[in-house]
Amino acid sequence: MEVIEQVSKIRERMQALRCSGKRIGFVPTMGALHEGHLQLLRASVQENDVTVCSIFVNPTQFNNPDDYKLYPRTMEQDTELLKSVGCDILFAPVAEEVYAQQSLLQFSFGALEGVMEGEHRPGHFNGVATIVSKLFHFVQPHRAYFGQKDLQQVAIVKQLVQALSFDLEIVRYPTMREEDGLAMSSRNKRLGAEQRQTATALYKALQLAKGQLGQKPVYSIKATVEAYLAGMQQVNLEYFEVANPDTLQPLTELGGEQEVALCIAAFVGPVRLIDNILVNLN
Ligand code: PAJ
Repeated sequence: MEVIEQVSKIRERMQALRCSGKRIGFVPTMGALHEGHLQLLRASVQENDVTVCSIFVNPTQFNNPDDYKLYPRTMEQDTELLKSVGCDILFAPVAEEVYAQQSLLQFSFGALEGVMEGEHRPGHFNGVATIVSKLFHFVQPHRAYFGQKDLQQVAIVKQLVQALSFDLEIVRYPTMREEDGLAMSSRNKRLGAEQRQTATALYKALQLAKGQLGQKPVYSIKATVEAYLAGMQQVNLEYFEVANPDTLQPLTELGGEQEVALCIAAFVGPVRLIDNILVNLN
């Protein structure tokens, strides 16, 4: 596996690969890789001639300085994992180069960023859109792979690709979970043993809500979830929403929807976790 750190080098390399007719798959990450990331990488290796993974803990998408500082960084282990799944190129730039010139550019995603992650993490999606745009320019992929775990992020990236006419396909893969249902996340590494146990509450809350869909009104389902989590010492619910799976707009009642997204964000101790499930109502 090639490891490239410089922007000029990745540009040069990708240009050459594109010119020689290679199909390029790209998996952008912030490292601390787990099965959720590896699934995306395996898909890319399978479906393209060349797979590029980027590892970059992007400072501009963190609205909480502690979250940025404490974000797990496991580059050596990540490199081994990437080799094991057949990744061809690891792009691991440094912030000083990626953000050599400070950008004042502001993205606007309208209603899509007014809810859930956009509402609770000011500036987050502006940072995501900025780094994803830069990475797409550096890597010039034909396909880029994202996880359902960050459902709203996928919707934002799709809108970004459409608005700026990036010539690539966005591919989404389902959320990978631990055996007890907890969605895999790099931030899980920050949970203590007891918190790790407690963290399954997010997935359990989603299942609880799923069981009541179509039987109880949305406000009552939300109240059930809130009451369920309010009983847990280490858990602090930020939001639970029943939402349209494409626009992510919260639904206050169900009116003939085919599918809904149940989305949740909560702190477990000091660690903020998110999860979602898609439920087919037919
Ligand atoms: P990161 O959290 O490292 O995630 C990288 C990709 O892996 C994202 O598309 C995310 O949705 C996916 N992913 C994470 N956990 C997953 C799981 N349990 N199952 C399936 N997919 C999962 O998302 C980011 O990084 C950043 O915002 C990034 C897009 C790299 C921009 O900085």
